[in-house]
Amino acid sequence: WHRNPRNRGLINFTPVAIADGSGPTPGISPDYQYDVLIPWGDPLEPGGPAFSWPPNAADQAQQIGIGHDGMAFFPIDQSDCSPFDSKFRRGHWFRPGNYHGMLAINHEFGGNSHVLGKSSPESLEEVRTSQHAHGVSIVEIKKIHGQWRPLASKNARRIHVNTPVTFSGPVAGHPLLQTPAGNIPLGTVNNCSSGPTPWGTYLTCEENFNGYFGATNREQTWLPTEAHQRYGFSEGGFGYGWEKFDARFDLSNPDYKNEEHRFGWVVEIDPFDATQTPVKRTALGRFKHEGATSVIGKDGRVVVYMGDDERFDYIYKFVSADHYRDMLDRGQSPLDEGTLYVARFHEDGSGTWLPLTLDNPDLAGHFHDMAELLVHTRIAADLAGATPMDRPEWTTVAPNGDVYCTLTNNSRRTEADAANPLAPNPDGHIIRWHDSEEHTGTHFSWDIFLIAETTHGTEDSFSDPDGLYADPDGRLFIETDGGQKDGLNNQLLVADTETGKLSRLLTGVTGDEITGITVTPDRRTLFVNTQHPGNGDPTQSNFPAPYDGITIPRDCTIVITKKDGGIIGS
Ligand code: FEO
Ligand code: CA
Ligand code: CA
Ligand code: CA
Repeated sequence: WHRNPRNRGLINFTPVAIADGSGPTPGISPDYQYDVLIPWGDPLEPGGPAFSWPPNAADQAQQIGIGHDGMAFFPIDQSDCSPFDSKFRRGHWFRPGNYHGMLAINHEFGGNSHVLGKSSPESLEEVRTSQHAHGVSIVEIKKIHGQWRPLASKNARRIHVNTPVTFSGPVAGHPLLQTPAGNIPLGTVNNCSSGPTPWGTYLTCEENFNGYFGATNREQTWLPTEAHQRYGFSEGGFGYGWEKFDARFDLSNPDYKNEEHRFGWVVEIDPFDATQTPVKRTALGRFKHEGATSVIGKDGRVVVYMGDDERFDYIYKFVSADHYRDMLDRGQSPLDEGTLYVARFHEDGSGTWLPLTLDNPDLAGHFHDMAELLVHTRIAADLAGATPMDRPEWTTVAPNGDVYCTLTNNSRRTEADAANPLAPNPDGHIIRWHDSEEHTGTHFSWDIFLIAETTHGTEDSFSDPDGLYADPDGRLFIETDGGQKDGLNNQLLVADTETGKLSRLLTGVTGDEITGITVTPDRRTLFVNTQHPGNGDPTQSNFPAPYDGITIPRDCTIVITKKDGGIIGS
């Protein structure tokens, strides 16, 4: 990947200067403007229950959730044009889909003090409020008189921790998903990154699902298994306290044995059918899923790139068994049959995708069947000899086929390797690879695109890369989540993948992270999110007030347009 030093003119906006990079409200390039959309607690549809704090469980189930994260815009009235078509990439700005669409958005997490106004729930009602604040919102949005807003919609819906879901693929129907209580599968949680599929559905990723389980030790003493430990389950979880009132999340309640196997999956949602039951696609493995980036590979097979965000965890990809359209025509999901691989990065800049299959000799004798393997994907990947990475977060595919993945940081690394060259790695880096056979092959070449630490003390300063989006022109949008250096809040940067030039488009709010990224087909509207602005504390930030006069800070979507109407990032 030879770099062309000449400025290609891809990025011409005036960046937000470091001096303007901190405060209780966002900072934006003087060439751009922003607006606020769907803050936590707003009604999903006009006329729904208005925000009041703290919300009650019934209202919260009809309101936008908290912890805005991965999202995807699905244009309406642009049915001849999907994000995977070249027509979409060139942009048809005059088409109504640039002003009207379904927005599918993840609600990763909301701390009890922010959602409930107390550190721990004191009733099942309060647990339900917390559960309803999590999950996914499907909102119909339209630009009316210059402002995007939600509409009444037959397709709008909330999916949360108590919404019926179903399982598909190799683990469906397996005893490892059955509980002695016989309760039906419900819900999705800690929905972090996400991605659209070529057939117009939304993949939401369950990340830190372990933290919502705990053990009361009332019925029996809970002793973690090796698998519990590998997935980070603990007696106290992350302190949500759900297990105290909802036995489903009590690891020490024998009636709900295996409930924890029902989380940690990629879930497929149809944003255009509110009656569809969300489907957990088990062939994509069970781990702390961060991102599901689909691309059409050789012979029309679909490839999904995925990170597992934990220190020393792995990068995965799934390759469907057949051309995705043929599979759909047969009534089969392309995500139910195929091969799951995990990445090994060799020191010489080459790499291998290791298959997680029963006939892989490194896995021989360890699993009875594919279902058992997939429920314990992390353990299978350990056995296969994958390369432990510095917290893989988002992946994105550039138009030349290069795949980028953020490695957000790793304070615990003591031994560097070529793919993770800093020990410790306080500020993260971005790795890039190119797969053989148009994404479907088992070999790749790789290099390091950027090390965040090298930018400190410059106008380009940033740390902890997380969200990523490669646009069709060769820009790479980078979002950050972590302690920024040089007095900056978290931020959205735009990089030129050829020259390496970086420019800061947006800075977030004190205490927040910037995450989630999606565009209209013409790329003249960009949606990003501020998650946990002010860490939920009104003395740190009141954003997005005075948007609506409410002083508690609320996670929300930030709608970015260029003042001259240009393509975002230009
Ligand atoms: Fe939810 Fe790994 O960020
Ligand atoms: Ca987060
Ligand atoms: Ca993330
Ligand atoms: Ca993160």
